[in-house]
Amino acid sequence: MKRLSDCTIVIFGITGDLSRRKLIPALYELICEQPESKLLLIGAALEVKNITEILTAARPYIHNLDEQVWQKFLKIFYYVPTNLKNQLDIDKLAQRILELEQAQQMSGSRLFYCAVAAHFFGQLTINLAKASLLKRQILGYKNSPEQVWHRIVFEKPFGADFNSAQNLNREILSVIDESQVFRIDHYLTKEIVENIAFIRFTNRIFEPLWNHYHIDWVQIVLSEETGLEGGVAYFDDYGTVRDVVQNHILQLIALVAMDAPKSLTGEGLYEAKAHILKHLEFVDGVFGQYQGYANEPGIKLDSKTETFAALKLKINEPRWADVPFYIRTGKRLNKKETKIWIKFKSTHCLLPKNCPTSANYLVISIYPEGGFKLHLNAKKPGVRDEVIPVSMNCCYDCLTGPAAAQVYTGLVADVMAGERAVAVHMDEIEASWQLVDQIMAHKLPVQVYTPGSFGPPELVDFADKHRFEWV
Ligand code: BG6
Repeated sequence: MKRLSDCTIVIFGITGDLSRRKLIPALYELICEQPESKLLLIGAALEVKNITEILTAARPYIHNLDEQVWQKFLKIFYYVPTNLKNQLDIDKLAQRILELEQAQQMSGSRLFYCAVAAHFFGQLTINLAKASLLKRQILGYKNSPEQVWHRIVFEKPFGADFNSAQNLNREILSVIDESQVFRIDHYLTKEIVENIAFIRFTNRIFEPLWNHYHIDWVQIVLSEETGLEGGVAYFDDYGTVRDVVQNHILQLIALVAMDAPKSLTGEGLYEAKAHILKHLEFVDGVFGQYQGYANEPGIKLDSKTETFAALKLKINEPRWADVPFYIRTGKRLNKKETKIWIKFKSTHCLLPKNCPTSANYLVISIYPEGGFKLHLNAKKPGVRDEVIPVSMNCCYDCLTGPAAAQVYTGLVADVMAGERAVAVHMDEIEASWQLVDQIMAHKLPVQVYTPGSFGPPELVDFADKHRFEWV
């Protein structure tokens, strides 16, 4: 990991689930990895609590906790009860931040992390700008040889549809610049997801085959065994398409389908991804809801929210003419798995009999194991005219090792380093929402499925109708 620059990190929504389970452990891990880094950590939320109480609630989510580091962590973390929509409260927060930054001779670089609902984002950004905490241009240097910066991170969901996302972008960009905004998608910091573009564009063998002449279909599976896990109110308002398709899955599709980007990191990627997102079109789909969802605590008995979606999309681009992109995603399914399957077209058979029954597939696995596999055919040893399926396997996890930093640790470090590949540009967000609005406008009927199953039984007819097989 690059050496972290000295900075103040303010987390809005410090008492929430995401902070407790992911962000606080990530900051703890940052301190462990870079004990010499100079960080001032401040949490803000509405509740009147003390910082020890808040951090202690996150302790069970920290692995291999070292008591000495923990004590240091408690000393550099502060809490300021704040009503985010109230300018007076933000002014008070600003005063406290300035006092602490001065006392600790911080550089004045600041990272604001919004782990709160999207309806806070606009007003909060404006309030921070009015309080001069978040400035468009930061003149001069303070106690630091590096340029002082102010950045703001927004957790997904960024908006609830195209109009709300567009309004939000306008509101935020009225007070700061796009270069300061990090709309993050935690999938983009998974090592193997970052690797998709590298696999494609650093190996000569793939690019010539990466088009409709050679690819039959692409399938993305993001299946989960768990149900709602605490995010009840949020999920019931959003559903699976807005929760994971609009962001994680469409980002995976964009990485798989984009043309060569200007560069493989930072700003270079977004234009290529945005181009694909703008050319995606909905073709068909099946929605599902697991049996018993409406009886979960906090869910409306007549809720029609989809907890499952199977979709067929197409990309209106010559490279992808007639190549369907299938998605299968949902909660309470038979297993937790995230994989991208790319099926190549069959070859002309030169054997008198026993032609290969299996096509070539490239499978990029994100979970459970990170890695990729190329399914090939080879001669059956000892038999003259028979083919068997074989595979070439790259276990990427074996390279990164089990101690690879957790996703949110890398994410915070990347934002501090100004690495934009973890952020989603406004053009990508707006294009994704346009597609999601298009999907939702079809008002697909919501089919019931058994928890622990593959999905609704209607998936069989769907596959027959479109003449493909689910992986
Ligand atoms: C989150 C969604 O963004 O991604 C959750 O809000 C989902 O509903 C999660 O469970 C899946 O992420 P991962 O990294 O566990 O695949």
